Amino acid sequence: MEFNRPINRRKALKVMGLGMLSLCVPTLPLYAKAQDGKRHKRLIFFFSATGNSLFVARQIAGEDATLLSISQEIHNEVPEYEADEIGFVCPIYCFIAPAIVQDFFARSTFKADYFFAVGTFGAHSTIFPEFMNNMAKERGVQLNYISAIQMVDTYLPFFDVERELANPKIQRIPERIAEVRAAINAHEDYILPVTEQDRMMCEGYYRSSRRDRQRPTATRSEKIVFATEACVGCGVCTSLCPHGSWRLVDGHAVAEGDCETCLACVHNCPQKAISIIPTPPEPEEPNRNARFRNPNVTLADLIKANGQVKE
Ligand SMILES: Cc1cc2nc3c(=O)[nH]c(=O)nc-3n(C[C@H](O)[C@H](O)[C@H](O)COP(=O)(O)O)c2cc1C
Repeated sequence: MEFNRPINRRKALKVMGLGMLSLCVPTLPLYAKAQDGKRHKRLIFFFSATGNSLFVARQIAGEDATLLSISQEIHNEVPEYEADEIGFVCPIYCFIAPAIVQDFFARSTFKADYFFAVGTFGAHSTIFPEFMNNMAKERGVQLNYISAIQMVDTYLPFFDVERELANPKIQRIPERIAEVRAAINAHEDYILPVTEQDRMMCEGYYRSSRRDRQRPTATRSEKIVFATEACVGCGVCTSLCPHGSWRLVDGHAVAEGDCETCLACVHNCPQKAISIIPTPPEPEEPNRNARFRNPNVTLADLIKANGQVKE
Protein backbone atom coordinates (compact mmCIF):
# COMPACT_ATOMS: atom_id res chain seq x y z
CA MET A 1 0.00 0.00 0.00
CA GLU A 2 1.12 3.56 -0.68
CA PHE A 3 1.46 4.48 3.03
CA ASN A 4 3.62 1.43 3.68
CA ARG A 5 6.43 2.43 1.24
CA PRO A 6 9.78 3.51 2.77
CA ILE A 7 10.86 7.08 1.99
CA ASN A 8 14.33 8.55 1.54
CA ARG A 9 16.24 10.59 4.14
CA ARG A 10 15.35 13.98 2.60
CA LYS A 11 11.63 13.14 2.57
CA ALA A 12 11.81 11.72 6.09
CA LEU A 13 13.40 14.93 7.38
CA LYS A 14 10.69 16.95 5.62
CA VAL A 15 7.93 14.88 7.26
CA MET A 16 9.61 15.33 10.62
CA GLY A 17 9.86 19.07 10.07
CA LEU A 18 6.11 19.21 9.38
CA GLY A 19 5.45 17.26 12.55
CA MET A 20 7.63 19.52 14.69
CA LEU A 21 5.99 22.58 13.13
CA SER A 22 2.54 21.28 14.00
CA LEU A 23 3.70 20.83 17.62
CA CYS A 24 4.54 24.53 17.72
CA VAL A 25 1.24 25.86 16.31
CA PRO A 26 -0.50 26.96 19.50
CA THR A 27 -4.28 26.90 19.04
CA LEU A 28 -5.55 24.72 16.23
CA PRO A 29 -9.21 24.03 17.09
CA LEU A 30 -8.70 20.24 17.14
CA TYR A 31 -6.72 20.48 20.37
CA ALA A 32 -8.32 23.59 21.85
CA LYS A 33 -7.73 23.67 25.59
CA ALA A 34 -10.49 22.81 28.01
CA GLN A 35 -9.56 25.64 30.36
CA ASP A 36 -10.56 28.47 28.08
CA GLY A 37 -13.38 29.53 30.35
CA LYS A 38 -16.29 28.27 28.28
CA ARG A 39 -18.24 25.08 28.84
CA HIS A 40 -17.73 22.71 25.94
CA LYS A 41 -20.59 20.82 24.39
CA ARG A 42 -18.70 17.59 23.77
CA LEU A 43 -15.15 16.87 24.92
CA ILE A 44 -13.44 13.76 23.57
CA PHE A 45 -10.20 12.50 25.06
CA PHE A 46 -8.29 10.12 22.84
CA PHE A 47 -5.13 8.07 22.77
CA SER A 48 -3.93 6.65 19.46
CA ALA A 49 -0.66 5.13 18.26
CA THR A 50 -1.55 4.29 14.68
CA GLY A 51 -4.60 6.44 14.04
CA ASN A 52 -7.57 4.07 14.42
CA SER A 53 -8.75 5.67 17.65
CA LEU A 54 -7.98 9.19 16.43
CA PHE A 55 -10.05 8.51 13.32
CA VAL A 56 -12.95 7.16 15.40
CA ALA A 57 -12.70 10.11 17.80
CA ARG A 58 -12.89 12.53 14.88
CA GLN A 59 -15.85 10.72 13.39
CA ILE A 60 -17.74 10.80 16.66
CA ALA A 61 -16.76 14.41 17.28
CA GLY A 62 -18.94 15.96 14.61
CA GLU A 63 -18.74 19.73 14.43
CA ASP A 64 -19.23 20.87 17.99
CA ALA A 65 -16.77 18.66 19.82
CA THR A 66 -13.30 19.41 21.09
CA LEU A 67 -10.70 16.67 20.82
CA LEU A 68 -7.97 16.44 23.44
CA SER A 69 -4.99 14.12 23.27
CA ILE A 70 -4.47 12.11 26.45
CA SER A 71 -0.70 12.05 25.79
CA GLN A 72 -0.74 15.85 26.08
CA GLU A 73 -3.45 16.30 28.71
CA ILE A 74 -1.67 13.94 31.10
CA HIS A 75 0.71 16.86 31.73
CA ASN A 76 -2.10 19.30 32.49
CA GLU A 77 -1.47 20.75 35.95
CA VAL A 78 -5.17 21.40 36.54
CA PRO A 79 -6.83 18.29 35.10
CA GLU A 80 -10.42 19.28 35.79
CA TYR A 81 -12.78 18.94 32.87
CA GLU A 82 -16.40 19.94 32.47
CA ALA A 83 -18.68 19.68 29.44
CA ASP A 84 -22.20 18.68 28.46
CA GLU A 85 -20.83 15.36 27.20
CA ILE A 86 -17.43 13.78 27.84
CA GLY A 87 -16.08 10.80 25.90
CA PHE A 88 -12.97 8.63 25.82
CA VAL A 89 -11.65 6.82 22.76
CA CYS A 90 -8.62 4.54 22.93
CA PRO A 91 -7.18 1.28 21.64
CA ILE A 92 -7.74 -1.88 23.64
CA TYR A 93 -4.47 -3.41 24.88
CA CYS A 94 -4.57 -6.95 26.30
CA PHE A 95 -8.36 -6.50 26.63
CA ILE A 96 -8.16 -3.38 28.81
CA ALA A 97 -7.30 0.33 28.58
CA PRO A 98 -3.65 1.34 27.95
CA ALA A 99 -1.72 2.39 31.07
CA ILE A 100 -1.51 6.01 29.90
CA VAL A 101 -5.32 6.16 29.71
CA GLN A 102 -5.60 4.67 33.20
CA ASP A 103 -3.06 7.18 34.54
CA PHE A 104 -4.87 10.09 32.93
CA PHE A 105 -8.16 8.94 34.43
CA ALA A 106 -6.63 8.51 37.87
CA ARG A 107 -5.30 12.08 38.04
CA SER A 108 -8.27 13.90 36.47
CA THR A 109 -11.76 14.92 37.46
CA PHE A 110 -14.65 15.00 35.02
CA LYS A 111 -18.07 16.62 35.18
CA ALA A 112 -20.68 16.05 32.47
CA ASP A 113 -24.31 15.13 31.92
CA TYR A 114 -23.43 12.24 29.59
CA PHE A 115 -20.31 10.07 29.52
CA PHE A 116 -19.20 7.59 26.85
CA ALA A 117 -16.21 5.37 26.08
CA VAL A 118 -15.28 3.63 22.84
CA GLY A 119 -12.45 1.14 22.44
CA THR A 120 -10.93 0.22 19.10
CA PHE A 121 -9.62 -3.32 18.78
CA GLY A 122 -8.43 -5.86 16.25
CA ALA A 123 -9.68 -9.26 17.32
CA HIS A 124 -11.35 -9.47 20.76
CA SER A 125 -12.50 -6.73 23.11
CA THR A 126 -13.58 -9.23 25.84
CA ILE A 127 -13.64 -7.49 29.27
CA PHE A 128 -12.89 -3.92 28.07
CA PRO A 129 -16.41 -2.59 28.84
CA GLU A 130 -16.25 -3.85 32.44
CA PHE A 131 -12.73 -2.57 32.91
CA MET A 132 -13.68 0.91 31.70
CA ASN A 133 -16.83 0.94 33.78
CA ASN A 134 -14.97 0.00 36.97
CA MET A 135 -12.12 2.42 36.28
CA ALA A 136 -14.60 5.26 35.75
CA LYS A 137 -16.62 4.38 38.86
CA GLU A 138 -13.46 4.58 40.96
CA ARG A 139 -13.18 8.21 39.84
CA GLY A 140 -16.86 8.88 40.55
CA VAL A 141 -17.82 8.78 36.86
CA GLN A 142 -20.81 6.76 35.69
CA LEU A 143 -20.28 5.91 32.02
CA ASN A 144 -23.62 5.93 30.17
CA TYR A 145 -22.35 4.27 27.01
CA ILE A 146 -19.47 1.86 26.38
CA SER A 147 -18.83 0.10 23.09
CA ALA A 148 -15.99 -1.13 20.88
CA ILE A 149 -15.20 -1.00 17.17
CA GLN A 150 -13.22 -3.71 15.39
CA MET A 151 -10.49 -2.35 13.12
CA VAL A 152 -7.02 -3.36 11.90
CA ASP A 153 -5.05 -5.17 14.63
CA THR A 154 -1.74 -3.41 15.16
CA TYR A 155 -0.13 -5.93 17.53
CA LEU A 156 2.57 -7.12 15.16
CA PRO A 157 3.77 -10.28 16.94
CA PHE A 158 0.33 -11.82 16.43
CA PHE A 159 -1.05 -10.04 13.37
CA ASP A 160 0.32 -9.46 9.89
CA VAL A 161 -0.99 -6.07 8.77
CA GLU A 162 -1.16 -7.15 5.13
CA ARG A 163 -3.56 -9.93 6.10
CA GLU A 164 -5.48 -7.61 8.37
CA LEU A 165 -6.06 -5.19 5.50
CA ALA A 166 -7.52 -8.02 3.41
CA ASN A 167 -9.88 -9.09 6.22
CA PRO A 168 -13.61 -8.50 5.46
CA LYS A 169 -13.97 -6.87 8.92
CA ILE A 170 -12.43 -3.73 7.39
CA GLN A 171 -15.53 -3.24 5.21
CA ARG A 172 -17.75 -3.02 8.29
CA ILE A 173 -15.84 -0.17 9.97
CA PRO A 174 -17.82 2.77 8.51
CA GLU A 175 -21.11 1.14 9.46
CA ARG A 176 -19.93 0.42 13.02
CA ILE A 177 -18.67 3.97 13.47
CA ALA A 178 -22.00 5.32 12.22
CA GLU A 179 -23.90 3.08 14.68
CA VAL A 180 -21.79 4.16 17.62
CA ARG A 181 -21.98 7.85 16.65
CA ALA A 182 -25.79 7.66 16.31
CA ALA A 183 -26.12 5.96 19.70
CA ILE A 184 -23.96 8.61 21.38
CA ASN A 185 -25.79 11.45 19.64
CA ALA A 186 -29.06 9.97 20.91
CA HIS A 187 -27.60 9.74 24.45
CA GLU A 188 -28.28 6.01 24.57
CA ASP A 189 -27.60 4.15 27.80
CA TYR A 190 -25.79 1.00 26.77
CA ILE A 191 -22.84 -1.06 27.93
CA LEU A 192 -21.49 -3.72 25.58
CA PRO A 193 -22.11 -7.05 27.36
CA VAL A 194 -19.20 -9.23 28.48
CA THR A 195 -19.89 -12.95 28.01
CA GLU A 196 -18.61 -15.95 29.94
CA GLN A 197 -16.57 -16.87 26.87
CA ASP A 198 -14.97 -13.38 26.90
CA ARG A 199 -13.98 -13.89 30.51
CA MET A 200 -12.50 -17.32 29.81
CA MET A 201 -10.49 -16.01 26.85
CA CYS A 202 -9.15 -13.17 28.93
CA GLU A 203 -8.32 -15.43 31.86
CA GLY A 204 -6.53 -17.90 29.57
CA TYR A 205 -4.49 -15.13 28.00
CA TYR A 206 -3.35 -13.61 31.29
CA ARG A 207 -2.54 -17.00 32.77
CA SER A 208 -0.38 -18.04 29.83
CA SER A 209 1.24 -14.66 29.13
CA ARG A 210 1.86 -13.88 32.82
CA ARG A 211 1.38 -10.21 32.05
CA ASP A 212 0.43 -7.82 34.84
CA ARG A 213 -3.37 -7.72 34.93
CA GLN A 214 -3.63 -3.98 35.57
CA ARG A 215 -0.80 -2.64 33.39
CA PRO A 216 -0.02 -5.45 30.95
CA THR A 217 1.73 -3.36 28.33
CA ALA A 218 3.51 -0.75 30.46
CA THR A 219 7.22 -1.47 30.21
CA ARG A 220 10.59 0.01 29.16
CA SER A 221 11.12 0.81 25.51
CA GLU A 222 14.64 -0.68 25.45
CA LYS A 223 13.07 -4.07 26.24
CA ILE A 224 10.54 -3.86 23.41
CA VAL A 225 11.92 -2.04 20.37
CA PHE A 226 15.19 -1.26 18.62
CA ALA A 227 16.31 0.68 15.53
CA THR A 228 17.96 -1.44 12.86
CA GLU A 229 20.82 -0.41 10.54
CA ALA A 230 18.21 1.01 8.17
CA CYS A 231 17.77 3.94 10.61
CA VAL A 232 18.76 7.23 8.94
CA GLY A 233 18.41 9.33 12.09
CA CYS A 234 15.39 11.29 10.80
CA GLY A 235 14.07 11.59 14.37
CA VAL A 236 10.41 10.80 13.59
CA CYS A 237 10.40 8.30 16.48
CA THR A 238 11.74 10.95 18.88
CA SER A 239 8.81 13.25 18.03
CA LEU A 240 6.14 10.58 17.99
CA CYS A 241 6.57 8.55 21.17
CA PRO A 242 3.92 9.39 23.81
CA HIS A 243 6.60 9.10 26.50
CA GLY A 244 9.42 10.76 24.58
CA SER A 245 11.44 7.57 24.98
CA TRP A 246 13.56 7.77 21.83
CA ARG A 247 16.69 9.88 21.29
CA LEU A 248 19.31 10.20 18.59
CA VAL A 249 22.84 9.12 19.42
CA ASP A 250 25.38 9.80 16.65
CA GLY A 251 22.57 9.91 14.10
CA HIS A 252 21.02 6.60 15.19
CA ALA A 253 17.76 6.22 17.12
CA VAL A 254 18.08 4.68 20.59
CA ALA A 255 15.10 3.60 22.71
CA GLU A 256 15.24 4.29 26.45
CA GLY A 257 12.41 5.12 28.81
CA ASP A 258 8.79 4.40 29.65
CA CYS A 259 6.86 2.49 27.02
CA GLU A 260 3.18 1.67 26.40
CA THR A 261 4.08 -0.99 23.81
CA CYS A 262 1.82 1.13 21.59
CA LEU A 263 4.17 0.49 18.63
CA ALA A 264 3.67 4.01 17.25
CA CYS A 265 7.42 4.13 16.58
CA VAL A 266 7.45 0.75 14.82
CA HIS A 267 4.45 1.40 12.58
CA ASN A 268 5.28 5.00 11.70
CA CYS A 269 9.03 4.84 11.07
CA PRO A 270 9.42 6.15 7.49
CA GLN A 271 12.27 3.69 6.87
CA LYS A 272 10.60 0.71 8.57
CA ALA A 273 13.80 0.66 10.60
CA ILE A 274 12.24 -0.08 14.00
CA SER A 275 11.59 -3.68 14.98
CA ILE A 276 10.17 -5.51 17.97
CA ILE A 277 12.43 -7.51 20.27
CA PRO A 278 10.87 -10.98 20.50
CA THR A 279 9.69 -11.76 24.03
CA PRO A 280 8.95 -15.50 24.42
CA PRO A 281 6.38 -17.03 24.68
CA GLU A 282 5.21 -14.47 22.10
CA PRO A 283 6.28 -15.18 18.51
CA GLU A 284 8.54 -12.97 16.39
CA GLU A 285 6.60 -10.53 14.25
CA PRO A 286 5.70 -12.46 11.07
CA ASN A 287 6.27 -9.65 8.57
CA ARG A 288 8.79 -6.88 9.25
CA ASN A 289 7.68 -5.02 6.15
CA ALA A 290 4.03 -4.78 7.11
CA ARG A 291 3.37 -1.53 8.91
CA PHE A 292 0.14 0.38 9.43
CA ARG A 293 -1.21 3.86 9.88
CA ASN A 294 -4.93 4.50 9.55
CA PRO A 295 -5.25 5.91 6.01
CA ASN A 296 -7.37 8.85 7.25
CA VAL A 297 -4.69 10.01 9.70
CA THR A 298 -1.32 11.56 8.82
CA LEU A 299 2.05 11.16 10.47
CA ALA A 300 1.89 14.87 11.38
CA ASP A 301 -1.49 14.23 13.13
CA LEU A 302 0.08 11.51 15.29
CA ILE A 303 3.16 13.58 16.08
CA LYS A 304 0.89 16.41 17.11
CA ALA A 305 -1.20 14.08 19.28
CA ASN A 306 1.63 12.17 20.97
CA GLY A 307 4.83 14.19 20.61
CA GLN A 308 6.63 15.13 23.81
CA VAL A 309 9.05 18.04 23.55
CA LYS A 310 11.84 17.17 26.00
CA GLU A 311 14.38 19.64 27.34
C1 LIG B 1 0.22 -3.72 22.77
C2 LIG B 1 -1.05 -3.98 22.02
C3 LIG B 1 -2.03 -4.80 22.57
C4 LIG B 1 -3.22 -5.04 21.89
N1 LIG B 1 -4.17 -5.85 22.49
C5 LIG B 1 -5.34 -6.10 21.84
C6 LIG B 1 -6.35 -6.91 22.45
O1 LIG B 1 -6.27 -7.34 23.58
N2 LIG B 1 -7.45 -7.19 21.71
C7 LIG B 1 -7.62 -6.73 20.43
O2 LIG B 1 -8.61 -7.07 19.80
N3 LIG B 1 -6.71 -5.90 19.86
C8 LIG B 1 -5.57 -5.57 20.53
N4 LIG B 1 -4.63 -4.73 19.96
C9 LIG B 1 -4.96 -4.06 18.67
C10 LIG B 1 -5.39 -2.61 18.89
O3 LIG B 1 -6.30 -2.49 19.95
C11 LIG B 1 -6.07 -2.04 17.63
O4 LIG B 1 -5.32 -2.28 16.50
C12 LIG B 1 -6.38 -0.56 17.79
O5 LIG B 1 -7.36 -0.19 16.85
C13 LIG B 1 -5.15 0.35 17.59
O6 LIG B 1 -5.57 1.68 17.79
P1 LIG B 1 -4.72 2.96 17.39
O7 LIG B 1 -4.50 2.88 15.88
O8 LIG B 1 -5.59 4.10 17.75
O9 LIG B 1 -3.44 2.93 18.12
C14 LIG B 1 -3.44 -4.46 20.62
C15 LIG B 1 -2.46 -3.63 20.06
C16 LIG B 1 -1.29 -3.39 20.75
C17 LIG B 1 -0.24 -2.48 20.13
